[in-house]
Amino acid sequence: MNYNEIESSSLSGSLKDYRNPLGKNLTNRVQPFFDWQNNRRISGLWPYAKSTTSAPLTACTALSDSGDLIAGVNFASQDYLSLASHSDIKEAAVAAVRDFGVHSAGSAALLGNTRYSLSLERALSSHLDDCQIVLYPTGWSAGFASVQGFIRSDDHVVMDVLAHSCLQEGARAATSNIHYYGHLNVQGVERRLRRIRSNDAKNAILVVTESLFSMHSDVPDLRALRSVCDAYDANLLVDCAHDFGCMGRDGLGHLGDQQMLGGADIIIGSFSKTFASNGGFIAVKPRSAAEYLKYYSATQTFSNALSPVQAAVVLKALEIVTSDEGARRRKQLMRNILRLRAMMCTVGLEPLGDPSPIVPVYIGREDRARLSARRLSEIGAIVNLVEYPAVPRGDARFRVQVMADHTEDDLSRLVELMAHSLGETTTKSPRIPMVASARTAKRQRSSIEASAV
Ligand SMILES: Cc1ncc(COP(=O)(O)O)c(C=O)c1O
Repeated sequence: MNYNEIESSSLSGSLKDYRNPLGKNLTNRVQPFFDWQNNRRISGLWPYAKSTTSAPLTACTALSDSGDLIAGVNFASQDYLSLASHSDIKEAAVAAVRDFGVHSAGSAALLGNTRYSLSLERALSSHLDDCQIVLYPTGWSAGFASVQGFIRSDDHVVMDVLAHSCLQEGARAATSNIHYYGHLNVQGVERRLRRIRSNDAKNAILVVTESLFSMHSDVPDLRALRSVCDAYDANLLVDCAHDFGCMGRDGLGHLGDQQMLGGADIIIGSFSKTFASNGGFIAVKPRSAAEYLKYYSATQTFSNALSPVQAAVVLKALEIVTSDEGARRRKQLMRNILRLRAMMCTVGLEPLGDPSPIVPVYIGREDRARLSARRLSEIGAIVNLVEYPAVPRGDARFRVQVMADHTEDDLSRLVELMAHSLGETTTKSPRIPMVASARTAKRQRSSIEASAV
């Protein structure tokens, strides 16, 4: 379908427009969303819900949501250390299936734990400074539980505006006292804590951040956050989903690099990025806090435990992450990240944020972003597109995810194809002016973030 045949609604609108449908009939009132989505699908401009038709390695094949075949280099997997295809991990999975079958018997509060999950708790604990570990069936459920499990309706949550949905939903489920601060803005945190404490000396305050933000690839000053928490008697929660295991010395991510492993009161992590499986965990120091979560965080008590296969896979992945091989893989990953970012700059692409396995590449307007994403998949690269409301409006980006096993050829192929797809959509689309310059884009971003200060 060429540009002039595209239904204009496919190039505008966002998921946010359909978030609050009106009407009495719950299943009928969502039709306008479907109409908008389907227009995009028919035009090949719905880049979501792709399915792989081969293992999601550094190159793979996939089907788009409308059934078109996409084949090429894969930069849309979160298998950062390339452990999902590791022979030891596959063997661990096969052995667990042979010994235990594929099912956990129930919630961890009942008969859901296995010898694999108990060994995993012990191994994670010794890697995380002897914290007590509570396992969850997904990273999302761990994030939700880390807030919902501890916070009661009179307590306060002070949260980075860009905190992940699991943390935001956990807060909404627990209290209406949610105070957002501008992204990474420690002074904003301090102002909120001062205001809250001047009116409420009794109840708990939880400050919530991520150690590596997954859409911007940037990092908070965890020490500074710890200091303001101490000054106002608040607790600090850090979600390390994206850097735990794959970055920093011993794979301890920014918590380790900032020597803040003991400085967070609550750590949550996900296994789905580096540890080759669904699942997540919460780490806390006191045994009492861990035991409390087991019976008062809904997604632990009322959801089936990690399956034996998942627990065995994560256990083996952790063994690799903490070995010399893990260090080698992290080094290779960081080499790829730095190389890719440098290559991008040489052709005028704009990688955002700090070096991490997530390389957000600025595009700008949503219409251009959708056309570029379609073109990119046609010419042989699999990359996720992120647009408003996941990121600010007019600030769409490719979210490139790098793996340790990507080769130099994979990196240069991606850069070549991405530059090509973005070049085509600036020159060929009559309705789309050139994107804002990098500096304008940064100004736009900071004004959006400042508005939440
Ligand atoms: C910061 C953060 N926390 C939690 C999660 C949820 O983890 P999972 O996808 O393993 O459920 C994600 C997922 O991408 C994330 O980015």
